[in-house]
Amino acid sequence: MIGIFDSGFGGLAVFREIVRALPKYDYIYLGDNARAPYGDLSQDVIYQYTQQAVDYLFTHDCNLIILACNTVSAEALRKLQQEYLPFKYPGKNVLGIIRPLSEIAASTSKNKNIAVLGTQSTINSNAYQVELQEQDKNIQVIQQACPLLVSLVEDSQEKTESSQSVLHNYLAPLVGENFDTLILGCTHYSFFHDQIENFFKKRVKIIENGQSIAKKLTDYIKRHPAFGSRSASSLRPSGEVAQARGEFSTMPTGRQENAESKQRVFLTTGDSKKFDQAAKKFLGQTIISQKIKL
Ligand code: DGL
Repeated sequence: MIGIFDSGFGGLAVFREIVRALPKYDYIYLGDNARAPYGDLSQDVIYQYTQQAVDYLFTHDCNLIILACNTVSAEALRKLQQEYLPFKYPGKNVLGIIRPLSEIAASTSKNKNIAVLGTQSTINSNAYQVELQEQDKNIQVIQQACPLLVSLVEDSQEKTESSQSVLHNYLAPLVGENFDTLILGCTHYSFFHDQIENFFKKRVKIIENGQSIAKKLTDYIKRHPAFGSRSASSLRPSGEVAQARGEFSTMPTGRQENAESKQRVFLTTGDSKKFDQAAKKFLGQTIISQKIKL
């Protein structure tokens, strides 16, 4: 079972592409909508919330978790990998998305000038600057925080006129800069992809979270096949997990290559009706989520 975690809806764009690329696995998506946005929280709080989500997913049968959130990847991943997993969950793994996106951006940029849009916290962490310059020390990085965009997506306001002007205010300082590649360094920003592309008149290559992460995860699973596989308990659910499973609503993919039914479980800490409506828009499919507490 693979867990996909985001502060809210943004990771659904990553979920969609991962499931498209790797349909034969079971997935739990967890959005901490009740506490989103994370982007203005302190590193300690982001770490604490992420640890709770990781505990939840690992104790509900996941053996691999994708942090489908740049803010969480920037602020919590390293500490989790170094100080928490080896002792609490040896043999399980958590992957972030900043390194894979940086690798793709570094190999895409011709002029070695890359712009990054992100939450305040991601930009303050400098995580992209560090990763990109690890790929190539000659890369110049221009960073722009866009703090209000996450709330606009969480409130389904991303297509309104006022959100256009908020977006344009964030993008305006980048006009005249010489970058040829732009990283959407926040999963929520996928929902502004076309507006951002049009703003720069399609002159820059936009590095999206969804497809880029799906491609990198596919490579990872090929190299570590055990992580994506069903664990013994997921084949024969028992105890708490089995009971919880019975309550979860699942989304049949309708695209399976074999008859075995795959688990697509959607959990939110927020309002599940609101989650289902947003998920329908972002996934193009009807799902029924379950509200949980972390
Ligand atoms: N989707 C998160 C990201 O990729 C948004 C963080 C937030 O909740 O502010 O950064």
